[in-house]
Amino acid sequence: RNHRREMECRSDIDRLNAPFLEIFESLVPAEEEKAKQKQLLASLEKLVNKEWPGAQLYLYGSCANSFGVSKSDIDVCLAIEDTDISKSELLLKLAEILESDNLQNVQALTRARVPIVKLMDPATGISCDICVNNVLAVVNTKLLRDYAQIDGRLRQLAFIVKHWAKSRGVNETYRGTLSSYAYVLMCIHFLQQRKPAILPCLQEMKATYTVTVDDIQCAYFDKVENLCDFGARNKESIAQLVWAFFDYWAHRHDYANAVISVRTGSIISKRAKEWTRRIGNDRHLICIEDPFEISHDLGRVVDKFTIKTLREEFERAANIMQYDPNPCVTLFEPY
Ligand code: CTP
Ligand code: MG
Repeated sequence: RNHRREMECRSDIDRLNAPFLEIFESLVPAEEEKAKQKQLLASLEKLVNKEWPGAQLYLYGSCANSFGVSKSDIDVCLAIEDTDISKSELLLKLAEILESDNLQNVQALTRARVPIVKLMDPATGISCDICVNNVLAVVNTKLLRDYAQIDGRLRQLAFIVKHWAKSRGVNETYRGTLSSYAYVLMCIHFLQQRKPAILPCLQEMKATYTVTVDDIQCAYFDKVENLCDFGARNKESIAQLVWAFFDYWAHRHDYANAVISVRTGSIISKRAKEWTRRIGNDRHLICIEDPFEISHDLGRVVDKFTIKTLREEFERAANIMQYDPNPCVTLFEPY
């Protein structure tokens, strides 16, 4: 372990910048696709408003946080105030409305952890999940999008990490690995920690945006257009950052004691959060604090088997970045 800690980044690392950027570019959705998503959202909103005139639809998740690859499904939140019917009934009613408008594969999943209606729009081919009143997700989507505007390297790194995680089968929360949302938070935290820092900690700065959602105060500095040269003093290239990211999660992160926290821009201890014991199904084997729901560990889905898988994957990726002649291919080989 010790000799690894002192290991230098490979000398030809910058040779990998062009191919990594090419992968990034190939994953970015075309403007045309974004336009289709907006169009679908508008037509859904029209439909919904016939039944509930005051209701609004918001995009959240990867289609709105700027970390979405092309051909992703879109996540939509229906914001609706005091209806007298339950959430399940509301979703069933919504499904009925959508079905009668020729949307396809309409399915209400009322028992899911986050209950949703799924559908596919035959006109655009876009699939969509609609949840109800999940406003916190809309706010954390804005936080991620705001971070992405500060330094372009965040988006590049996160696309590559997400692409790696999907290729390697470690982006499946129902199987005990991490969500895309968790991976993006890991990237933000990592760039906050670089020396010099590539990203600031927006929640520690003077708040210019404040909302209260479900009794949680969400406040941070969102005038990010003023921060566009924040990371300029750090000259690390995308290839160096990909290498250092995997090296961090393979060899440097203190899994036993540390919690990564985008909210504070630092590492905090499991002890301080009382995340040292397993409570119910929450195991805290890799700790990623949600920036707003701070009692929420995004690593809680990880169990004693999948933590091993994850750590082996981080080590594999770090080794490839260190030694493999062709990391841009090997990194993403299907498992
Ligand atoms: N979300 C959340 N808490 C979680 C998981 C997700 O609040 N534990 C919200 C976040 O707003 C996130 C959105 O749900 O942006 C979608 O989550 P996810 O599917 O993990 O991420 P996407 O960015 O949509 O990624 P993908 O491209 O894989 O669909
Ligand atoms: Mg999504």
